Amino acid sequence: MSDLSDRLHQLIPPVISFDTEIEIVHGEGSWVTDADGKRYLDFACGIAVTNLGHRPAPVQAAVEAQVDRLWHAGGTYVYGSLITAAERLVSVTPSSIEQVFFMNSGAEAVEASVKLARKTTGRQGIVVFRGGFHGRTMGSVTYTTSKAKYRQGYHPLLPSVFVTPFPHPYRWGVSKEQADQLALDELERMFKHEVTPSEVAAFLIEPLQGEGGYYPAGHGFLAAIRALADEHGILMIVDEVQTGFGRTGDWFTSQVYGIEPDILVMGKAIANGLPLSAVGASREIFAKWPAGSHGTTFGGNPVSCAASTAVVDMLGDVIPGVAKLSDHAFGRLNELKSKHPTIGDVRGLGLMIGVELVADDRRPDPDAFAAVSAHAIDEGMFILPCGPDGNIIRFIPPLTVTIEELDHGIDILDRGLDAYES
Ligand SMILES: Cc1ncc(COP(=O)(O)O)c(C=O)c1O
Repeated sequence: MSDLSDRLHQLIPPVISFDTEIEIVHGEGSWVTDADGKRYLDFACGIAVTNLGHRPAPVQAAVEAQVDRLWHAGGTYVYGSLITAAERLVSVTPSSIEQVFFMNSGAEAVEASVKLARKTTGRQGIVVFRGGFHGRTMGSVTYTTSKAKYRQGYHPLLPSVFVTPFPHPYRWGVSKEQADQLALDELERMFKHEVTPSEVAAFLIEPLQGEGGYYPAGHGFLAAIRALADEHGILMIVDEVQTGFGRTGDWFTSQVYGIEPDILVMGKAIANGLPLSAVGASREIFAKWPAGSHGTTFGGNPVSCAASTAVVDMLGDVIPGVAKLSDHAFGRLNELKSKHPTIGDVRGLGLMIGVELVADDRRPDPDAFAAVSAHAIDEGMFILPCGPDGNIIRFIPPLTVTIEELDHGIDILDRGLDAYES
């Protein structure tokens, strides 16, 4: 065992699991380099965070400039980078979003969004969708149903949280339209049997389930949820922690679907790796959250805010290129699907693509993922799994990836599958 690995196991509790014990010492663009100088294509992106690749120069310059001026403010006084970051965000979020409250992590922002919804509506019920991932704090883990393991040992969880199916057409073996309808029928039954819509404060939904298996919602499904929310005075909280900031081809996936969220949850790529998250809503909604009803010490850190402004400025030039990269990636991954029986499904939007690895009869094959991932590491590429069985490759290159890098990564997957299937 290396010295670093020894110290890791001595000092860092096992609950924080690392996919590998490779020590990375440098990152640039789509690549990271280990302590021995080996380079890896980083298609894990720090769990969908480095949408602009590692250390994009304009973001680094903005961070350095802010570090030279002010690092921390807390709630004591205001500072320009907070207001500028909010201005930038509001300029790119759906038009329903007029103000933003900054925090540090996705889970924290999810917690805040639910508190805001309860305060605003005076109702308690929260409806979440099976397979969703919303974080691991006590509240957010209650809303998380991507894997039972995340909840195991922590019961009782929060009351008045109701779980209804999210359409998973491939897993259910039905068409997208049938899956949408089946899921909506179940929701209707929930309203009949478990909770009346008049008691529900919010729907909390990912427009494209991430950790749960890279399932995009059907257009009809999201539109129906929006319509039900309007009909019953329920707020629609859209969790775009993973799907935001260009990942699916527009600023936010809500815009891809033409949905106006009442509350938008943002995190991960918002500052390309500096800790920052945010909840956005209208002035009318935020006006019902009195001063001091919620708060934070580190949220909206001046340096993270400066990074976020630079990220949004840079993404404006990057997002228009995502469609072409996405078409190329889908084209090549679908070619791989025709060649490799292990690939059961290729799905997603933009550069958020799930490649589901299966054995006979759509049976999830986590061994295939483990083998392909180990092969990828040997050849110099990191990929992550998702889905309750860990058998789905999350294909999430940086949005700044080149066609050559995409091809290089997909060729590695091809060879990894060849080796697994031989
Ligand atoms: C959709 C979604 N919501 C919330 C979270 C939680 O974010 P964090 O890990 O920053 O707390 C995640 C993290 O993967 C996520 O994907």
